[in-house]
Amino acid sequence: MRQEIKKINPVKKLFGKITLPGDKSISHRAVMIGAISRGKTNVKNILDCDDCNYTIRAFRDMGIKMEKDNGYTAIYGKGLKGLKKPKWPIDIGNSGTSMRLLSGILTGQNFDVILRGDASLSKRPMKRIVEPLSLMGADIKANPDGYPPIKIKGGKVKPIDYKMPIPSAQIKSAILLAGLYADGITIVEEAFKSRDHTERMLKYFGSKLKINGLKVSLEGARELTARTLEIPGDISSASFFIAGVILLKGSKIRIDSVNINPTRAGILKILSKMGVKIKIYNKKNSFEPFGDLEIESSSARGTVIDEKDIPSVIDELPILFVIAACSEGRTVIKGARELRVKETDRIRSMRENLEKMGAKIHLEDNDIIIDGVEKLRGASLKSFGDHRTCMAMTIAALAAEGSSTIDDVGCVSKSFPQFFRTLEKLMV
Ligand code: S3P
Repeated sequence: MRQEIKKINPVKKLFGKITLPGDKSISHRAVMIGAISRGKTNVKNILDCDDCNYTIRAFRDMGIKMEKDNGYTAIYGKGLKGLKKPKWPIDIGNSGTSMRLLSGILTGQNFDVILRGDASLSKRPMKRIVEPLSLMGADIKANPDGYPPIKIKGGKVKPIDYKMPIPSAQIKSAILLAGLYADGITIVEEAFKSRDHTERMLKYFGSKLKINGLKVSLEGARELTARTLEIPGDISSASFFIAGVILLKGSKIRIDSVNINPTRAGILKILSKMGVKIKIYNKKNSFEPFGDLEIESSSARGTVIDEKDIPSVIDELPILFVIAACSEGRTVIKGARELRVKETDRIRSMRENLEKMGAKIHLEDNDIIIDGVEKLRGASLKSFGDHRTCMAMTIAALAAEGSSTIDDVGCVSKSFPQFFRTLEKLMV
């Protein structure tokens, strides 16, 4: 594929009002849970991006009809066991969420199937789901290194009581989705709270699911009922513009209808600790909480991000590196080793790029330590083919002294194809 290099010139400020495409994590879940419910699920504002389109294609290949019309996606669900064996292996592209969550659903189907991904996904760890799903009775195998492709032969599913060794919403979700097929109660316990989108959506579709602190229990072998839902704007996408406002003095923007689920929107809590003022208007509560965000530029000061808060901010850490690099004083990010196994090693990608721009970053045991500098300088930057590294470095470049280039920006289509267009709308 041709690599698209982009020149980024600094801008004065960001100003205006935007709405964002639907949340990526919630969009995946809407397609998956809609497909295995009974009846027609109607989803407003589903995210149209590479990853979610892989999920949609996978379910179409398994016999689920979906139609897009006027901002709505209709999903004609066929019930828990209504999927058909696909004619060929399922290609899931670069989407870790699709591969891990889908594995949970396939555990309960009566066919065998292969899930494979692109070169980058083929280097991401899958043992983390292979182990619990095997305990649930699945015949599931990754390759000997624990990477994709995954071969699954679904069948009878047993409930488990599982303590997750890694805090991860994808592992928790794979187990809960497999638990839908088990005769009995599946229990998953995590050490730190990760995003609870699966739990909320399953409840909304009629599951018997209980949350007790860090423990989730789900009663299996009950059909789900189709629903109508609206997907809020993606807080992960919002965080790039929020950072732009913080970095560029005199900026002010409003972002309407964003997901503010506390298990996901940890960035709002962290930024408030850093002294940034974000106002939330028009809060509404559907199966997920929404709100309109208003942000005015204000200087940020360094903070400590605790390991227990990492899952609620895991996808926003690249942009938090940028904010920290331009803040007053020191920021310490604790226990963020999961960043090493994202689309790229994000500790390496962000450190290498930001150091080229003059940032001061060092690692001590499991801590990432970032000392703020007065101003970053333009540099020749690399996306490492990773959408969030690319978008975070774009924002850093906007606030730098001198122009920058980023080597391969096409990767933003993974989660946010309109990123550059939306950003240009706000530039003053
Ligand atoms: C996701 C969970 C997180 C996150 C990913 C999406 C989800 O991954 O990084 O972008 O939708 O459940 P982990 O579960 O691996 O932390």
